[in-house]
Amino acid sequence: MLKSSLQNLSKSNNNPKEKELELSLRPKKLEEYIGQKRIKENLKIFIEAARQRKEPLEHVLIYGPAGLGKTTLSHIIATEMGSNIRPTSGPAIEKIGDLASILTNLEDGDILFIDEVHRMNKLVEEALYPAMEDCKLDIIIGKGPSAKTLQLDLPHFTLIGATTRIGLISSPLRSRFGMTYKLNFYSQNEIASILERSGNILSIPMEKNGCSLISRCSRRNPRVANRLLKRVRDIAEVKGSGVINQELAQRALEMLEIDSMGLDPGDRYLLRSLIKKFGGGPVGIGTLAAATSEEKDTIEEIYEPYLLKIGFLERTPRGRIATKRAFEHLGFSWNDEGLKL
Ligand code: ADE
Repeated sequence: MLKSSLQNLSKSNNNPKEKELELSLRPKKLEEYIGQKRIKENLKIFIEAARQRKEPLEHVLIYGPAGLGKTTLSHIIATEMGSNIRPTSGPAIEKIGDLASILTNLEDGDILFIDEVHRMNKLVEEALYPAMEDCKLDIIIGKGPSAKTLQLDLPHFTLIGATTRIGLISSPLRSRFGMTYKLNFYSQNEIASILERSGNILSIPMEKNGCSLISRCSRRNPRVANRLLKRVRDIAEVKGSGVINQELAQRALEMLEIDSMGLDPGDRYLLRSLIKKFGGGPVGIGTLAAATSEEKDTIEEIYEPYLLKIGFLERTPRGRIATKRAFEHLGFSWNDEGLKL
């Protein structure tokens, strides 16, 4: 396992108290949602048009790295549509029977939210096609020559699918969504505004310099920013006066072993392994996963997106490469022939 002081800040949280706190920070309406300007503008129009026609919204596919707001945006769409949202996930729908039970329990206008939609079983996915297109579900009852097909009429629903891995969505599924949105990393100013908003909700006193330092180390990711804020608040309360100023934020980030680029010990271990064990690459993802005792999916979904974004890592047909910037950031010297320790 990669060592990380905050255990992968952008991963979903299973701690119920933390989860509740995260929920309280989620914007509930489109106008409260900071960043992703183009997506908000688009959604605003399509939601209004659907409401005027008194029709459900077309199916929506949202993709992008973990922690950027796919689930938040889906709940906002439901609120703005005045609809109920039924959340589930791709791996939770194991059989066509599970899908039938979910779909037949929906009501007209409901939103079905399927997180990790790329992890749906193939048979379930295929059964979903006529449900998305014609609100019909075909189920086969019995086996062999006596098997019968039963067609169920379903309520008019909107499917919102979310995924971190758009490349794993088959084209028949992808083409059945009326809208596809890609969530991008946030700007530092947007992250600072999100932190300010969260600080107000949680009544955390924070100076501008403290806020901007945390925002610089938040990997352009609201989930990471909010988690860092809570950890820095703990440190401010125990070690400081409770106010988050620049000095305290600096001290807290050092304690959390988060560096000036927002990298945590896990990111650095991954990059160092790539540099020291493989001369900076190229190395295949499977080999890198084995060398760091980390899951391939965790590397691809949690570590890589930000490292690619800041230009510390590159994906090539022959594998992953650590860039000159990564070498220099970690204190390795670089020459064109490759690694020089
Ligand atoms: N909290 C998490 N993501 C947010 C966003 N995009 N806007 C406002 N608050 C948030």
